[in-house]
Amino acid sequence: MTHQKFHLAYFTKFGATAWPGTGQFGSTWADGAFHVELAKKLERAKLDFLLFEDSVTISDKYGGSMELDLKHAVYAPKHDPLPLLPMIAQGTSNIGLIATASTSFYPPFLLARLYSTLDSLTRGRVGWNLVTSSETTAAQNFGMDQLPPHAERYARAEEYVELVRQLWDSWEEGALVEDTETGVYVDHTKVHTVDFNGEYYRSRGPLNTLRSPQGRPVIAQAGASSRGRDFAAKNAEVVVAPMAGGIAGMKALREDIRGRAQSFGRNPDDIRVFFLTPLFAFTSGGEPEAPSEQAQQAQLEYGMVMLSSTTDVDFSKLDLDTPVPEDLEGGGHTSIIDVFKELGRQGMTLREAMYSGMGGDQYGLAGTPAQIAERLIAIMDEVGGDGFLIEGAGLTPYVDVLVDELVPALQKADVVRTEYAGTTLREVLHEF
Ligand SMILES: Cc1cc2nc3c(=O)[nH]c(=O)nc-3n(C[C@H](O)[C@H](O)[C@H](O)COP(=O)(O)O)c2cc1C
Repeated sequence: MTHQKFHLAYFTKFGATAWPGTGQFGSTWADGAFHVELAKKLERAKLDFLLFEDSVTISDKYGGSMELDLKHAVYAPKHDPLPLLPMIAQGTSNIGLIATASTSFYPPFLLARLYSTLDSLTRGRVGWNLVTSSETTAAQNFGMDQLPPHAERYARAEEYVELVRQLWDSWEEGALVEDTETGVYVDHTKVHTVDFNGEYYRSRGPLNTLRSPQGRPVIAQAGASSRGRDFAAKNAEVVVAPMAGGIAGMKALREDIRGRAQSFGRNPDDIRVFFLTPLFAFTSGGEPEAPSEQAQQAQLEYGMVMLSSTTDVDFSKLDLDTPVPEDLEGGGHTSIIDVFKELGRQGMTLREAMYSGMGGDQYGLAGTPAQIAERLIAIMDEVGGDGFLIEGAGLTPYVDVLVDELVPALQKADVVRTEYAGTTLREVLHEF
C-alpha cells in the first residue's frame, strides 16, 4: 500500500526551551550556538523548517504577578529570533527558517524591509509567522493601553499584509541589471512606488532593498477562529493548525482551510497545513513513565501562565474544579475560549478542560520510535496531508532519537523526504 507522503517541521522559541531538563541549557542558549546546533541536527533529518514563536512581554496575567512566568521560563526570558536566523543560515544549507513578528507592533515598511533582508541573508529560506498578538502587557510596551479587539486586529492585519506584499513587489524581478557597459546598476523603470492609502496604514514605497531570492518570503499563520481561518486561507502558504478533535477533527480542519482558500480564488495546493504535534514520548517499549508530582505541578503552572496570557483571562480567579463557566470571556485567543466552553457543555471542569487541551494522549504518540512512526503514518493516511509541526524542547537526547531513529523509520516507509530537492523554503514546501 502506498502511504500519504508528509512534511515534518519543528516548533521552538529563542528561549530556555529545555528548562528545567538537565539544567545545562539554563542560560547557554542566549548566544545562539544551541539553536544553530539544533538546526544542523534537524537538517540532517531533512525537515522542512524550524518555526520560532515569539512574544514581547513578561506575562503577569495569572494572578497579577510575573513569578510563575519567570519561574518556568514560559513567555520569558525570550530573545528576538530575527537576528538568530542568519546565524543558523551560516551553519546550514537547506532547512527553512520561519520567525514570528506581530502586525500589531511593527510598522509594515520596517517589517517588509526586515524580511526582505533576511531572505537575502538566508538565500531564500525565510518565512514570516504572521501574528496579531493577544497580550495586553505586550501592547503596553508599545504605548497602547490595550490591543484593538479581535475583529479589528484581523481587519488591520488584512490591510497590513496587502501593503507588505506590495512593498515586496515594488522591485520587479530583473531590476538589478549590473550593466558595466551602460553603467547602470539598477533599472529604475522596474522599481515603483506603492502609494498605499488604506484605512489603517499609508506608505509611499518602494522598498530600498533588492528584491530577495523568494521575492515574497513565505507567510505562515496560525489563526484558529473562523475569522482566523479565513485570514490564513486567504494569505498563508503555511497554516499552523491545532491537533484537535481527533483524526476526524484534523481532517475536517484541513478541508475547511482548503475550501476557504478555494472560495478566495486560491489553489488549495498552494497551502501546506502543519499540525502542531505534542512532544513524542519515546520509550523503549514499556509504558511512558508517569510524571512526578513536582513535574505535574510545574506543568499545571506553566499551562496557567500560557492560558491566562493567551486568552486574557486571569485563571487564578477561577476555581479549577468547577464547571467551565458559560459566560467565560476574554480578549485574546477567542477560539481557545470557545473550545473551553464547548468542553464545559460536555460536563468538564476547568482543570479537566485544560488537561484535555494540552494532551496528545488520544493520538497514541507514545512508544518506541518505530511505533510512533507507524502511528504518524496511520494518522496522515486518514487526514490526507500535509505535515506535522513537532512542538519540541531543546537539544535534549530526544532530538537525537527523532533524527537518528524516528525519521529514518519514516524514510524507510517512503513517507518523508530523504534528500532536499529545492533550495528556497517555498521550493522545499512544494517538493511534493
Ligand atoms: C501553533 C501556534 C503558534 C502560535 N504562535 C504564536 C506566536 O509565536 N506569537 C503570537 O503572538 N501568537 C501566536 N499564536 C497565536 C495565533 O497567531 C493567533 O493569534 C491565535 O491563534 C488567535 O487567533 P484566533 O482567535 O483566530 O484563533 C500561535 C498560535 C498557534 C496555534
